Amino acid sequence: MTGVLSHKFTHYIPRYFPKMLIFVWNHVAVNIFENQYHDLMMNIIVFGPPGSGKGTQSVKIAGKYHLAHISTGDIFRSEIRNKTKMGNKVQSYISKGELVPDELLLDILKNAMEKHSGTRGYVFDGFPRTIHQAVSLDKLMQEKNQEITLVLALEVSGEEVVKRLLKRAQLEGRSDDNEEVIRNRLKVYHEQTEPLLTYYDEQDKLATVPGEGTIEGIFKNLCRAIEGDSAG
Ligand code: AP5
Ligand code: MG
Repeated sequence: MTGVLSHKFTHYIPRYFPKMLIFVWNHVAVNIFENQYHDLMMNIIVFGPPGSGKGTQSVKIAGKYHLAHISTGDIFRSEIRNKTKMGNKVQSYISKGELVPDELLLDILKNAMEKHSGTRGYVFDGFPRTIHQAVSLDKLMQEKNQEITLVLALEVSGEEVVKRLLKRAQLEGRSDDNEEVIRNRLKVYHEQTEPLLTYYDEQDKLATVPGEGTIEGIFKNLCRAIEGDSAG
């Protein structure tokens, strides 16, 4: 009897083996991968004064780690180019180098995050810039069962950023890249944004990285900070 049963069993194995594999894949392997995927969620803030290389390095980080890059400055500039209501509202602040009021930020940010809802994480570039924005971002993250994993602060001297932005002014003509406005952007950074360094340091999320030198060299150090951090 046992012989007959085991014969039948071995007979059916080759027939059903592919289906069994698919079953295992669907119910076990995918779950494991999804959990791993969740563990690898990374939400990074790239922080620093105007011209410190936030945009340049955020693009590289987002590319390497497959994260969605959200730059509030880029979003505002695109709204201004497209002459939208929002563009109209923010133009005067940006051209003077003042911060756009916090209440105009949250919807923009939520929309940008929704656009990339399937992402394994975000790189925030130029956001948050005030304690109020940071607290709002924390709340938003909590609603999604996520958190800010790391804040990468680029350290660049005032002289170097003025030099870089004046050079960019000749090439690209961004409306806020003239010496008077650049100096005001720096002042606003020191007064309203720099205090965030303490906010994130107290949460043990801050990594400061020298922001002067070659773009590739700085990127390597940023990756080291990211990988050191995710390695725990
Ligand atoms: P935003 O667009 O964020 O501008 P920013 O902070 O002034 O900084 P930049 O974009 O000028 O510089 P970056 O640090 O990105 O450096 P980048 O890589 O471009 O904000 C603009 C305005 O929008 C604000 O003033 C405010 O009005 C408003 N705004 C935005 N977000 C807001 C918020 N959250 N709340 C309220 N208001 C908000 O590099 C700069 C230049 O240097 C480039 O030419 C680049 O090629 C060059 N460069 C980069 N790396 C190097 C290097 N290692 N060596 C030499 N040159 C380099
Ligand atoms: Mg930028």
